[in-house]
Amino acid sequence: MKKQFYTLSLITPTLLILAACTATSPTTTSSNGAKSAIAIGIGVAQTSNVALLGQEQVAGAKLAEKFFNDNKGVNGTPIKLIIQDTAGDEAGAINAFQTLISKDKVVGIVGPTLSQQAFSADPIADRAKVPVLGPSNTAKGIPDIGEFVARVSAPVSVVAPNAVKAALKMNPKIKKVAVFYAQNDAFSKSETEIFQKTLKDQKLDLVTVQKFQTTDTDFQTQATSAINLKPDLVIISGLAADGGNLVRQMRELGYKGLIIGGNGLNTSNLFPVCKTLCDGVLIAQAYNPEYVSPINKSFRDAYKAQYKKEPPQFSAQAFTGVQVFVDALNTLDKGGKKVSQMPLAELRVALNQQLLKGKYNTPIGEISFTPKGEIIQKDFYVAQIKMDTDGTSGKFAFLK
Ligand code: ALA
Repeated sequence: MKKQFYTLSLITPTLLILAACTATSPTTTSSNGAKSAIAIGIGVAQTSNVALLGQEQVAGAKLAEKFFNDNKGVNGTPIKLIIQDTAGDEAGAINAFQTLISKDKVVGIVGPTLSQQAFSADPIADRAKVPVLGPSNTAKGIPDIGEFVARVSAPVSVVAPNAVKAALKMNPKIKKVAVFYAQNDAFSKSETEIFQKTLKDQKLDLVTVQKFQTTDTDFQTQATSAINLKPDLVIISGLAADGGNLVRQMRELGYKGLIIGGNGLNTSNLFPVCKTLCDGVLIAQAYNPEYVSPINKSFRDAYKAQYKKEPPQFSAQAFTGVQVFVDALNTLDKGGKKVSQMPLAELRVALNQQLLKGKYNTPIGEISFTPKGEIIQKDFYVAQIKMDTDGTSGKFAFLK
């Protein structure tokens, strides 16, 4: 007993000192000891099917890191992204967030990719008082998770109805609508509710609601049931791999009408899944590459130089997430708080308060937040997929 106490009493002060040292500074030091940087966490999917979306987020975040460091970082201190893979499920997101919070000691986190993951991982950051910016979490209720959770991804309620209105403009004769959604995914469930409400508001006939899983690859049963009811419009709320396969199988089974894909299908990584059969799919957008502003020009030019195509919404939103942290850190620093020297716990709380107060000129437009952390964004768009005849490349053509 005595010995145990003696050992503990020696170790405890050492641990406390170590903990205090690591907890006090929000900056990292490079191996040569020369330069410190403020660590911002990126926790998105780099593996699993969800990486079809997450890869675009890493691309956008990295462009932001370079852009802001080329523009003096945080009042002269560079930022450094620490990227942890969440994979596609809740456990992966929880692990990545815990690592970012406790080991990497980030000031805030941009992530995760899915709302389904956010409902599990965000409460952990919230309890640790670490600000989270959801770069693509569009389900209802994300900002309600907690005081430290905000998002730069506008909710399904304001984005999704635009696609239905665009479809009606293209084909005013639409009457019968078939709806599909992934029942194991929080975002898909939330989005289908909005789509179904919009159909009601527009006095359209909802002829069937078909359910699937994001892990499904065979949709013959649901697709055949829907096609038998002769819909004029099909609406899919799912993710890229399942959504792309469903589009392909609907077309292979002979469906010729318009298809709306939800936010989970909003990536050119869909093209290899449905190939030429992706052609014509309508998807509402929270970003337009042609938005005219200096910051969007910088982002768009940098993205095009590297990837030889127009930047997608998921990249623009991830860039925006990093930007909100950097702009808010700069405001704090200019307001007299030396952020690179503030104790980490204090900085995380101050950063959260500051980011909710700010206004930001971002690639997705001028944005701000409600006190709860919901994004206030003005402009939304609709694009239609146009596939090239080679069947592999294509683009999102924005509707006027
Ligand atoms: N918008 C999708 C979600 O919230 C990716 O999960």
